[in-house]
Amino acid sequence: MKKLLVTSALPYANGPIHIGHLVEYIQTDIWVRYWKLRGRDTIYICADDTHGTPIMLRAQDEQVEPEALIERMGEEHRRDFADFQVHFDNYYTTHSPENEQLSGEIYLALKEGGHISERSIEQAHCPQCRMFLPDRYVRGTCPKCGAEEQYGDACEVCSSTYNPRDLIDPYCATCGTQPDWKESVHLFFELDHFTDALRAWIGAGHVQDDIRKKLMEWFQDGLRAWDISRDAPYFGFEIPGQPDKYFYVWLDAPVGYMAATMDHCRRHGLDFDAYWRRDDESDVYHFIGKDIVYFHALFWPAMLMGSGFRTPTQLCVHGFLTVNHEKMSKSRGTFITARTYLDHLDPQYLRYYYASKLNPRVEDLDLSLEDFVQRVNADLVNKIANIPSRVLAILHRNCDGRLAHMDDEGRALFDQLRGKCDAVGALYEQRDYAQVARLIGELTGEINTYLQAHKPWQLVKEDTARAAVVCTAGLNAFRIIATLIAPILPEFADRVASMLEIDALTWAGLDDVLENRPVRPYERLVDRVDPKKITAMTEASRVTTDEQEEVEPPVMTLDGLVDCAFQTMRLLDASPIADTDKLLALTLEDGDAPRRIVAGLGHDALDRGIVGQNFLVLANLAPKKIRGNESHGMSLAGDAGDRPQPVFVPDRQSGEVVE
Ligand code: MSP
Ligand code: ZN
Repeated sequence: MKKLLVTSALPYANGPIHIGHLVEYIQTDIWVRYWKLRGRDTIYICADDTHGTPIMLRAQDEQVEPEALIERMGEEHRRDFADFQVHFDNYYTTHSPENEQLSGEIYLALKEGGHISERSIEQAHCPQCRMFLPDRYVRGTCPKCGAEEQYGDACEVCSSTYNPRDLIDPYCATCGTQPDWKESVHLFFELDHFTDALRAWIGAGHVQDDIRKKLMEWFQDGLRAWDISRDAPYFGFEIPGQPDKYFYVWLDAPVGYMAATMDHCRRHGLDFDAYWRRDDESDVYHFIGKDIVYFHALFWPAMLMGSGFRTPTQLCVHGFLTVNHEKMSKSRGTFITARTYLDHLDPQYLRYYYASKLNPRVEDLDLSLEDFVQRVNADLVNKIANIPSRVLAILHRNCDGRLAHMDDEGRALFDQLRGKCDAVGALYEQRDYAQVARLIGELTGEINTYLQAHKPWQLVKEDTARAAVVCTAGLNAFRIIATLIAPILPEFADRVASMLEIDALTWAGLDDVLENRPVRPYERLVDRVDPKKITAMTEASRVTTDEQEEVEPPVMTLDGLVDCAFQTMRLLDASPIADTDKLLALTLEDGDAPRRIVAGLGHDALDRGIVGQNFLVLANLAPKKIRGNESHGMSLAGDAGDRPQPVFVPDRQSGEVVE
């Protein structure tokens, strides 16, 4: 069988891993573990995606070098993945010498082949920040509906799309300055040169059917040239022979798959070309979300074709996570980071739950928190983990902790389960984990039926030898279950192996039978999910309404405002709240007694001279405890770039009612 290289999309280094990301990394990790269990030569490769404007600006904001920022984020990401038992053979970074070399090499090959052209484009440029502004960093009034503070490419109110040039009163999202419009020469990758080759590639089954249909629609509109350069300042790789021009982050990001492979091969004495040049020696599978199909199904294979590398074997596209049937939401407490989850719950629950819902189609996956508790407790805890717990207890209490032999009936149970293993394997291969979980549940049910029929817990009172025979069959059958579930629950499987005193559970070991030997006492495999912990987790994830939230606001009338008492109050003092990076405790002047408000302005707001300013406050908001601090009202803020900017009132008149 060919060697196998599997990747997940490279997460952006400018944010934490959250449970949405984990749909992908858990899905991929299960697939990789399945192949390793079967003994296939498989590597799982990933990296942080480190370049681009958001990282550059965030580093500026935090007053650190981008290299230091991506280093820190990389460490956090690695820790999160490790704690979710997502095991990479290499987790690298796109900011690497290998990536710079390979990106340059691919670009030069494309240029050599006549696939790169130059043309001048006009772009917003901020004279204050001294940089060209990507569309998302220009804001202004929508030319169609007049809504203010809209992005440069699309209006969130009327959904129209436009050119940033069309915005009324445009300004730089970072500093508020009105941008100039400057011409600059950009490099373009002529994607349409690859139209036929891409059409053939997509038609040859390298993507799921739904995706193929979508892509064919895109072909009808014709493939447009792709702008692959950005002007300095930009955090990325300088383009060879083009001083002050940098590769657009999406050019070097997928090359990061190759660079991370190269680093892995160098450290393990493996042949890089066997993965990326010779497709008869290996398969390459990319797991990605539906939002990044365009990059992986068009740009990426075209780049590879144009530079003499192999193309991927398969794109495995998945849908998006919803929580309780809605988009993850900060105010509802369902935007849950990997770390917050781990602070409250066992990662095995999420691995099992996602597996029980994942299929090979490009469908969204819903995490319903009630269903999560119910399914994990009913299936994993009560049905599956319960078997070794009962059987090992009997063996240790009454049978000297030793297995006996299986009788014919026990052997029949074992053979029955063994006979279903190939079907489970096929389902894993097809990424139909929901069916894997269903089938494992059924097989577990057969063991439970067998135990129920023979009741070793009663039998043991009359005939310990018979009870040991029944338990031996139960445990041997359970070993099959633990092996089949190992890709989903690796830690669980390891603990079962150690109780059975075997090295590891493998596919090859499925035929082995354990008889007449000692076993260790039962060790806890998985605890029941405590619903209180779910509440604690969503509470910890809930962001105060002071912070920005991307929810569609309903249309309201002035009546809704009548109840709001807005007041101007001078900020007397502010201090950061420990263990948060955004929350500040504000003390504001309000008549005789000062008023305390908790606001999510970011600790760094303190450095921007906010003390002494007149804040606009929603004064009659019911008091609320936020991270242990009473907050009496809300300070109003707007979004400036990616940080909240408090609303300041110029005149120093405190206590005045504005509305
Ligand atoms: N950096 C790019 C990928 C470059 S690959 C050469 C990127 N990063 S990301 O951090 O935004 O997303 C990483 C992966 O997680 C993507 O495949 C994306 O589709 C997936 N998901 C991010 N949010 C998700 C959900 N809410 N639900 C499911 N998958 C999600 O895109
Ligand atoms: Zn600016």
